[in-house]
Order: sequence, then structure tokens, then C-alpha cells
Amino acid sequence: MSTRVLEVPDAPRTLPEDLDLLVLAAPTHNRRLPSAVSRAQAAKRGAPTPPSTGIREWLDAATIPPAARLAAADTVTGRSWLSGSAAKDAAKRLHRVHGRVDVACHSFLVSSFQGPLADGEQAAVRAWGRTLVQGLPGQDAR
Ligand SMILES: Cc1cc2nc3c(=O)[nH]c(=O)nc-3n(C[C@H](O)[C@H](O)[C@H](O)COP(=O)(O)O)c2cc1C
Repeated sequence: MSTRVLEVPDAPRTLPEDLDLLVLAAPTHNRRLPSAVSRAQAAKRGAPTPPSTGIREWLDAATIPPAARLAAADTVTGRSWLSGSAAKDAAKRLHRVHGRVDVACHSFLVSSFQGPLADGEQAAVRAWGRTLVQGLPGQDAR
């Protein structure tokens, strides 16, 4: 299947009408999607220079084709409710701003504040990806 991976600053505001699946992915910051403030906090902690904008801002202005399936993923440092979830925040915004309720959400664990993914999570990402493409036009799960 043809895919594109884009950083938010390079993502178009209006997505192609024939888009089958949109997957949004972000680290969880302060229990939600990253903001300008949390990106600056991350930079202070030594993270690579963050993009000037993120999914939170992009969602406010984007046009998403109604037929596109939606998914949201995040990374978290823990599995408790205290960790929050950028993916669930994205799903709430997709509901509030775009009227969408059908968002598949998943959180993946990082082994420390700066990553990388914890043991077994890379395989979990692949397995989740397979479930997302199942049933898309012209696709079978491999
Ligand atoms: C400002 C800031 C706030 C964070 N808040 C949370 C949080 O609420 N819950 C959580 O699980 N992880 C939190 N983290 C950890 C990030 O989720 C973690 O650094 C990130 O998932 C690692 O992925 P990345 O290397 O792609 O940024 C926070 C990190 C930063 C820098």
C-alpha cells in the first residue's frame, strides 16, 4: 500500500479525498498532546529541536476526508491513568473539532523519558499496524 510519513510542519491542511487511513502519532506531554509550552520543556530537557507546531494545532485547521479511517498513537512512560494519553487527547479533538467518534487509539511504552520504545513495543506497533490496515480497500493482513 502506498504510505507517506510526514512531520506536522510538512503535512497539508487539506488531506487527499481518497485517503484510506490517517494515523496521528505523538509523545504524551503533560497527559495530553504536546503544546508549544511542553515542546519548549522537552527542548530544555535536551530533546532534539522540536517542530514549531504539532498535531494539536494541525487538528484545529485541518480538513479530513470523511471516508478516511482514523487512528491515533502515542508514547507514554507509564501505563497508569496518571500517564495520560496524547492519542486519547487527539481522539477527543477529532470528536470536538471534526465530529469523528471512530478513532482507534493505542499507547506504546518508552523505557525512559527520552525513549527508546520499551522491550516488545516495536512488535506491538507492527501488530497494531496490521490491525489498522485489515479491511482497507484492496488490503489483506500480512
Ligand atoms: C514536557 C514533558 C511532559 C511529559 N509528560 C508526560 C506525561 O504526562 N505522561 C507520560 O507518560 N509521559 C510524559 N512525558 C514523557 C514523554 O512521553 C516521552 O518523553 C516521550 O514519549 C518520548 O518520545 P519522544 O522521544 O518521541 O519524545 C513527558 C515528557 C516531556 C518532555
